[in-house]
Amino acid sequence: MDTKNKTTLITGGLGGIGYALAKEASRDNNTVVLVQRSKSEEAEKELLSLGAKEVFQIQKDLSQKDAVPTLVSELNKKSIDVDILINNAGLLTGGLIEDQKDEDISQMLDVNLKALILLTKALIPKMIKKKSGKIVNNSSVSGIMCIPCASTYAASKAGVVSFTKCIKQELKPAGVSTLIMLTPGIKTKMYDDIKNLYSGHLKLDFLSAMSPEEWAGKVWTAIKNDDDEITPTGSNKIGLLAAKYAPSVFEKQISRYFSRSK
Ligand SMILES: NC(=O)c1ccc[n+]([C@@H]2O[C@H](COP(=O)([O-])OP(=O)(O)OC[C@H]3O[C@@H](n4cnc5c(N)ncnc54)[C@H](OP(=O)(O)O)[C@@H]3O)[C@@H](O)[C@H]2O)c1
Repeated sequence: MDTKNKTTLITGGLGGIGYALAKEASRDNNTVVLVQRSKSEEAEKELLSLGAKEVFQIQKDLSQKDAVPTLVSELNKKSIDVDILINNAGLLTGGLIEDQKDEDISQMLDVNLKALILLTKALIPKMIKKKSGKIVNNSSVSGIMCIPCASTYAASKAGVVSFTKCIKQELKPAGVSTLIMLTPGIKTKMYDDIKNLYSGHLKLDFLSAMSPEEWAGKVWTAIKNDDDEITPTGSNKIGLLAAKYAPSVFEKQISRYFSRSK
C-alpha cells in the first residue's frame, strides 16, 4: 500500500509502540488520529514537526461499553475517513490464573479484544466502499507461545490472531487488507509490567526486547509491502517456530522456567 498522505488511526497512540507508529505515519505526511485515555500537547507538536498533516487526539477509555460508538460518531462529525486502522491499545494481565482479579481480566479483554473487534467492524464499511484500506492488529508472540502466567493475556492475543485471519479472507475480495503484528518483547511500560506480574512464578531470563522505534519501522515497512503477518527475528523467532510446529518441545522447555511456589 502507498502509505503517503493517508489517514491513520492508532489506538493507544501515545504509548510505547503506538507513538513510534504515529511517528512513522507522520513522516509519511499522514493525518494522524490518536485514541487513548490520555492526551499530550508535546506529542502533537512533535508529530506535526515530523510532517503530520493534522493530528487529532480523541480521549477514550476503550474498556467502556459506549467507547466505539461514541468514537465513530466523533470521527464522522470531524469528517475523518480512516485509511489505516492500527488496533494497538492493550493492557497486560498475568500471574497464576486463580490469583488474577476478575475485574482486571474483564477490562483487559474489553480493550485487547472486544474494542478491537467492534472498532474494526465499525470502520470497514467505508473502506469496502472505497475498495481500499488496511487493518493492522497488534497481537503478540503470546498469542502463539503458550506460557504459564500469561493465560488471560495470551487468550486475548490468540483471539486477535484468529479474528484477523478470518476477516483477511472476507475482506480480500473487497480490496481491504490486514496485517497481524506478532509483537515480541518491546521496551515499553508494558514490558516493565511483565516483570512485576510474572516474575513471582516464572524466571524471565529468556526474555529479550527491542526498541519501539525499531519495531514500528518494521511494521510500517510491512504495511507498505502489504505483508499479512509480521514476526520477530532472532531468539523470539525460534521460540515462535517451536511453539507453532513443535508445541510439546516448546512446552517442555518453558516449563523449566516455571514454579508454582514463589
Ligand atoms: N511491550 C511489549 O513487550 C509487547 C509485546 C507484545 C505485544 N504488545 C502489545 O503492543 C500494544 C502496545 O503496548 P505497549 O507495549 O506500547 O504498551 P504501553 O506503552 O503500555 O501502551 C499501551 C497503550 O494502550 C493504551 N490503553 C490502555 N488501556 C486503555 C484503555 N482502557 N482505553 C484506551 N487506551 C488504552 C494506553 O493509553 P492510556 O493509558 O492513555 O489509555 C497506551 O497508549 C499492546 O496491545 C500490547 O499488548 C506489547
